[in-house]
Amino acid sequence: MDKINPFRHKPQTILRPLLSALFPTTLQPLLISAPMLGISTGRLAAAVSSAGGLGFLAGGYDFTPGSPQLSSLSAELTAARAALDLADRPLTPVPVGVGFILCHPSASRFEETALPLLIEHSPQAVWLFAPGPDPEGSGAELQGGIVGALKHAGFTVFVQVGSVSAARRAVVDGADVVVAQGIDAGGHQFARGAGVVSLVPEVRSMLDEEFAGREVGLVAAGGIVDGRALGAEGAVMGTRFVLCQESQAPEYRRKAIIGAVDGGVSTVKSTFHDDILGTKVWPEFYDGRAIVGQSYQDHASGVSFEDNLQRFNAAKEAGDDSRMVTWAGTGVGLVKKDIPAADIVREVREEAIKRIQHLQSFVPHEKQKGDSILPLLRKRSKDHVA
Ligand SMILES: Cc1cc2nc3c(=O)[nH]c(=O)nc-3n(C[C@H](O)[C@H](O)[C@H](O)COP(=O)(O)O)c2cc1C
Repeated sequence: MDKINPFRHKPQTILRPLLSALFPTTLQPLLISAPMLGISTGRLAAAVSSAGGLGFLAGGYDFTPGSPQLSSLSAELTAARAALDLADRPLTPVPVGVGFILCHPSASRFEETALPLLIEHSPQAVWLFAPGPDPEGSGAELQGGIVGALKHAGFTVFVQVGSVSAARRAVVDGADVVVAQGIDAGGHQFARGAGVVSLVPEVRSMLDEEFAGREVGLVAAGGIVDGRALGAEGAVMGTRFVLCQESQAPEYRRKAIIGAVDGGVSTVKSTFHDDILGTKVWPEFYDGRAIVGQSYQDHASGVSFEDNLQRFNAAKEAGDDSRMVTWAGTGVGLVKKDIPAADIVREVREEAIKRIQHLQSFVPHEKQKGDSILPLLRKRSKDHVA
């Protein structure tokens, strides 16, 4: 893996400067690996950051003192620091982030348990998602308090949302960066929402109109797996990093992702997968997108939940993983290469830059100067006929 020195690395700015100012070790356009529980380790996050992206580790949802998730987070942050060659500089912030899910009852203990751990390890950013159980009621209060405490401690705060109103709430709470998560996303998300194509521009307009004097970063998440889809200031990818050499994804998930094509059809957005897994943490406001597998097919063809659960448990006990759940976004049909995370960052960035340059080559000189485009169009059509 490349080792980077955050103080020597020179940022390049192509788009908005806020994110490169906040994260001087990143290159533009900013590529972010999502915090994915069971996938995103310190090694994966460090590999992404070492290639000029911003890698997030998954901090989980259990804030009970001494919880296994918090102990593992501490170890993973130490691993990320070592991988980025910063072990002998404990006061230097580590250029990775940590993501947390807030809908577990123990989230009320965030400041008591997670915050001291973050202060001790000093990652550069903290990502929050799913304040619950009611994100507009008590969840909003909880999120406001946690964002305030994180800002007070000097962290840059990302809040992932799936609607314009939740984005507004996040900014009022003090978020520095809004992650607009569309319904193409893999894993958990707002049960009702829009895809990034409509969500990102509407959040942008809201930010420009309602928070004109304040710089807020906006990045897009959901269904993005390559450089052709970039349009925001930065892009978050989850599914794409499930399949990389540093990912902790088990073999059955890797196989399911490699085998899936036509992601809008081969994945489904539903609460069924949490039900069959017996996951209790997600409130009604959320559901999740996963690859359609045998269990979901049985569910769709009318098999009762009890029978389906029995089949699921029997398969699990027999070591047959054909009924296991693979969370994935609609971009899964394009995710086929199990390569190092840093190569994904480089590949997608280069693809995006090529795309932007290609689009710029279409902007006529006359248009840039503000002249009418009509004479040029006439000239072009004449040339074409000739
Ligand atoms: C396997 C998997 C696990 C995820 N786990 C989390 C998580 O722990 N916390 C979180 O905020 N988002 C989680 N997400 C959602 C991501 O933050 C992100 O919104 C999503 O991956 C973007 O869509 P994409 O998968 O199409 O790239 C997860 C996504 C996947 C695919």
